[in-house]
Amino acid sequence: MSTSSISPILSPDSETWAENIRREFPILDQQVHGKPLVFLDSAASSQRPRSVIDAVTWYEEHDHANVHRGVHTLSQRATDAFEGAREKVRGFINAESTSEIVFVSGTTEGINLVASSFGQKFIAEGDEIIISHMEHHANIVPWQMLCERNKAVLRVIPMDERGELDYQAYLDMLGPRTRIVALNHVSNALGTINPVKQYVAAAREKGIPILLDGAQAVPHMPVDVRDLDCDFFVFSGHKMYGPTGIGVLYGRKSLLEQLPPYQGGGDMILAVTFEKTLYNELPYRLEAGTPNISGAVGLGAAVDFLQRIGIDNVQRREQELLAYATTALESIPGLRMIGTASHKAGVLSFVMERAHPHDIGTILDTEGVAVRTGHHCAMPVMEYFKVPATARASLGIYNTRADIDKLVEALQRVREVLG
Ligand code: ALA
Repeated sequence: MSTSSISPILSPDSETWAENIRREFPILDQQVHGKPLVFLDSAASSQRPRSVIDAVTWYEEHDHANVHRGVHTLSQRATDAFEGAREKVRGFINAESTSEIVFVSGTTEGINLVASSFGQKFIAEGDEIIISHMEHHANIVPWQMLCERNKAVLRVIPMDERGELDYQAYLDMLGPRTRIVALNHVSNALGTINPVKQYVAAAREKGIPILLDGAQAVPHMPVDVRDLDCDFFVFSGHKMYGPTGIGVLYGRKSLLEQLPPYQGGGDMILAVTFEKTLYNELPYRLEAGTPNISGAVGLGAAVDFLQRIGIDNVQRREQELLAYATTALESIPGLRMIGTASHKAGVLSFVMERAHPHDIGTILDTEGVAVRTGHHCAMPVMEYFKVPATARASLGIYNTRADIDKLVEALQRVREVLG
């Protein structure tokens, strides 16, 4: 296992601090089109530090077997590693119990699970589900599908031109037919950090459950589900320096207990006859089939990594870099930022005059700079801003001011090429 190369005497404001962290990510040490890689696409998927890669490799080489089923040594080791990861996640988001931590394949599956199970039990014809205008498709489509199935109504909290939600409109929407609210904590397309605590409090005051999509929050700021007081909180491993194919659904135990199973199969049962099945306890009742064990191990290692750095340090560092990058990008003639909320995470979405975002992304790639271009799975956001797509630079803990300087240089190249 790798040891920390972070010197305790360096402050997170120091570039050397960030450069040391960067060295823990082997993938970043490469050239693309003959230029040193500048990776600015962490909102889509972050890279993995050596400690996560090593933890997964160790598990695969020494401990793998199926979990919860065997008395043999490897099965016990695999179970310990898997359940150990669950405990790490519990501590990381300060859930009360590991029975509230359900492993899923990612944020998308977590939301689909709630939409399916909660929907089956609690949503009837004419009931209302509230989402916002700035949701990722993963927090729109499952609810739309549910509305179609159960003849429910989808209501959408409007936003303004800065990319901030209209809180009063939300309050006005919370009514006797509202059955659930599903809201992103941080917008992947705009970077807006929504004041979710306020939204949760308003819903809970009326006894309405609320789900938070935390995919873009958990890697960048402290999250405490008990302090937030939300009912469901979902996030993905691969955006927080862990593997793909693993994510977490946190659910308040009293609510999870009421959900019918999402999928049937092994592990979610206590006893099966052809007449009847007795279901397992939480969280296993919601985890049918052999889980992604190595993914959970990697996710546990990612939690260790973030805790070693300190999530407060991550937040402080990224906020400082965001301010630096925002000033730098806004000084480029013809560049328009999409998403200018007063509280933002490290997401810089923009368009440029006479340059299609796809062409911006392609030219940046030739300069070694990786950004995402497109609708970012948030087509209603694009429609609101009347743009087909944006270019989006998104920050991770390994990014430095030098990366931002290279982005700015590469954007000047875009200007030269596209006029
Ligand atoms: N949700 C991911 C993104 O924002 C894929 O890029």
